[in-house]
Amino acid sequence: MRAAVVLAALSSLVMAAPQGEPGQDSKIGLIFTYTNGSQSAMEWVEDSISQVPLNSGGIVDNVFVEPLSNPALPGRYFGARCAFLDAMSRGLGVGQVNGPGIIILESKDVIEFVQCNTA
Ligand SMILES: *[C@@H]1O[C@H](CO)[C@@H](O)[C@H](O)[C@H]1NC(C)=O
Repeated sequence: MRAAVVLAALSSLVMAAPQGEPGQDSKIGLIFTYTNGSQSAMEWVEDSISQVPLNSGGIVDNVFVEPLSNPALPGRYFGARCAFLDAMSRGLGVGQVNGPGIIILESKDVIEFVQCNTA
């Protein structure tokens, strides 16, 4: 399972975030899948290189990530890099998607902080 975690040690060019309209067009969507198999509603987080508080509401196995859509190419997406952290800001998992996709946590636990940026 952990093979699906793409370590962010991979160098990646960080593109400037598009200046979208305020709202979800400029945010990255996350859906938590808990270890019991149920899923959260989609949560929207800022495209940011800073950690932001976001409680997952349960022990998370994996996270579906919906990156920003690319306005120049309808139906296409930018990539997104996300890190998920516990209450002590310890990393639970990190990964990158090149479109809507899943990042599997290395350590299954309750997420308290997330950091997602367009990459
Ligand atoms: C699964 O876990 C989540 C998070 O703890 C919880 O909200 C949900 O009610 C649970 N679902 C079931 C079917 O136990």
